[in-house]
Amino acid sequence: MLSVRVYDRLMDLARRSRPAIIVEIGTAHGAATIALAIGARAAGAAFHIYTVDPFSGFSSRVMFGGVDDNLRIVTAALSRFGVTDCVTVVVGTVTDLIARLPSGPIDLLLIDADGRIDRDLAAVYDRLAPDADIVIDDVDGDVYLTRFANRIYCDQKHRLTRLIVDQLRAPAT
Ligand SMILES: C[S@@+](CC[C@H](N)C(=O)[O-])C[C@H]1O[C@@H](n2cnc3c(N)ncnc32)[C@H](O)[C@@H]1O
Repeated sequence: MLSVRVYDRLMDLARRSRPAIIVEIGTAHGAATIALAIGARAAGAAFHIYTVDPFSGFSSRVMFGGVDDNLRIVTAALSRFGVTDCVTVVVGTVTDLIARLPSGPIDLLLIDADGRIDRDLAAVYDRLAPDADIVIDDVDGDVYLTRFANRIYCDQKHRLTRLIVDQLRAPAT
């Protein structure tokens, strides 16, 4: 989960930028999806959100059950906020999402998945609008110890994300 302040800012961004096509990589249980949908709806223009999550494998979602269990949770959350009709939830990875995208540029991209932002950005790069807004989570650069499936992992997601973002933002030499 992100902080309430971040969800507020996502809502505000979607309202201000009036995106027609929004892509989210890392649905989890739809909190950010809902924030984006509420913001985009407030802008008053037509829009659709395509969001993808494997809900399996190394996903943090496995603690809530299998793919169907997680889909039920997401669908219920979207329904509770009345945004089901403007969201397509894709099970899988960015490759599966791209296959489901209609024509037209991606106006707003949110990446909050497993830290492989190089893979995700490369996959959607050709589909991004020239002035697309891109939001990337976990850029603080820290390294964390996390417990997953009874093992302790040295989680370098934030560190790698930071390094890649810095590299991408560096002036070309
Ligand atoms: C931190 S959560 C996302 C939280 C979400 N942005 C929110 O605030 O509601 C990260 C999610 O990324 C998903 N994920 C992991 N690997 C992924 C991948 N390769 N592609 C898409 N999603 C992935 C996980 O299953 C998990 O649900």
